[in-house]
Amino acid sequence: MVTLAYGIFGLCFLVFFSIANAKYYHSQLKYFNVKDYGAVADDKRDNSEAFLRAWYDGCRWGGRSVIYIPYGTYKLSEVSFEGPCNDMMIFVIKGVLKAPTHISLFSTNTWIGFRYIDRLVVKGGGYLDGQGAVAWPYNDCSINPKCMPLPVTMRFDFVTNSRIHHLRSINSKNSHINLFACENVNISFVRLTAPDESPNTDGIHIGLSTNIKISRTVIQTGDDCIAMVTGSKDIDISNVTCGPGHGISIGSLGRTLGEVVTAINVRNCTFIGSQNGARIKTWAPSLSSVASNIFFGDIYMENVHNPILIDQQYCPTPSCSDQLGQDNSKVQISNVTFSNIWGTSSSKVAVTLKCSKLVPCKNVQLDNINLKYHGRGGPATSSCLNVIGDSYGRQSPPSCL
Ligand SMILES: *[C@@H]1O[C@H](CO)[C@@H](O)[C@H](O)[C@H]1NC(C)=O
Ligand SMILES: *[C@@H]1O[C@H](CO)[C@@H](O)[C@H](O)[C@H]1NC(C)=O
Ligand SMILES: *[C@@H]1O[C@H](CO)[C@@H](O)[C@H](O)[C@H]1NC(C)=O
Ligand SMILES: *[C@@H]1O[C@H](CO)[C@@H](O)[C@H](O)[C@H]1NC(C)=O
Repeated sequence: MVTLAYGIFGLCFLVFFSIANAKYYHSQLKYFNVKDYGAVADDKRDNSEAFLRAWYDGCRWGGRSVIYIPYGTYKLSEVSFEGPCNDMMIFVIKGVLKAPTHISLFSTNTWIGFRYIDRLVVKGGGYLDGQGAVAWPYNDCSINPKCMPLPVTMRFDFVTNSRIHHLRSINSKNSHINLFACENVNISFVRLTAPDESPNTDGIHIGLSTNIKISRTVIQTGDDCIAMVTGSKDIDISNVTCGPGHGISIGSLGRTLGEVVTAINVRNCTFIGSQNGARIKTWAPSLSSVASNIFFGDIYMENVHNPILIDQQYCPTPSCSDQLGQDNSKVQISNVTFSNIWGTSSSKVAVTLKCSKLVPCKNVQLDNINLKYHGRGGPATSSCLNVIGDSYGRQSPPSCL
């Protein structure tokens, strides 16, 4: 009787185990090498069809899929990798992907898109070469309202629980990486490079996304290293080196009604020769919106033009210069802390807090600031307008709060 019981138990155990095993087997990794789909690394032929077919099979397979791009240089025209997929997708880029040069070869504003995917990993140490130089002269959006935005190198739309790491992007035509409607995405060990003078080449542009972490990343580009626009919430940025570039920026906000950016944490970052460091900017004029609970701390600045900057009169184009000084932003900025920020400013006014007369900035804290200016007419100064807040700890330049 006891033996029989053990026998039945054993049998059940075996059956259970083989079912579990079968399931385990299906969640094993399966490789989808783009070369098996006809990709050729000859730097000539377009590989978009091969890449898309590899993605299609990987996405539909029952287990975790590795879309594998081996070493070599692959020409790639615009592609959109779409989900939902059955399981985790791991996109491994070992080689170099090269974008078409001319914008007439694009029908959308994206070079490489990932959309509607849960559990995506993009990694591999490879390069994305946006070949921006030919396209940059076509970036005329500041003067031509009907302009076509240039394609973003890598766009993530509706991507959740995902990681992007060990990746390089050079000479993007527009932003290097764009996150829209993403949640729980970690970006680390990424290097984004474009010339100082390249237009609109944001490093990482974030909108309508929550719980995003960016760390151990080096960004040298022509526009913002990181830009957070409306709907950016719970963003953690650490160990980022920025410069050249326009800084780690919140905004521009207030172009549409009810924009919100909140819970932003920027720590342990370094800015070298960038135009701005820690920046919040809102359009002037602008509509009612909110930027709150923003922390910039433990930051080293080297030769940064505007190390600490709140600018509620942001209006870079000539068309709005006549409105400058009207001081009519309706974006409420509150609970902003700049803590432990040291180094050098390349302009005399190292700290600028230029808030709106309509909705003055509330609860702005300056804690332990040590910024030097070694140029003519020094030492460094700070400048405040319509701002309510406190300063404590060391204050060099003397606080204007
Ligand atoms: C992102 O990093 C955080 C903290 O290290 C971790 O808790 C979270 O699970 C990570 N998310 C993903 C998708 O890997
Ligand atoms: C900042 O750097 C310090 C030491 O270098 C480290 O202990 C800490 O965890 C870092 N913080 C973040 C948020 O990366
Ligand atoms: C940032 O760098 C410090 C020092 O290398 C390290 O201790 C910390 O864990 C890093 N933070 C992240 C989030 O990678
Ligand atoms: C600012 O901080 C205070 C105190 O922590 C908090 O009560 C308030 O809700 C915050 N404001 C916003 C807009 O989050």
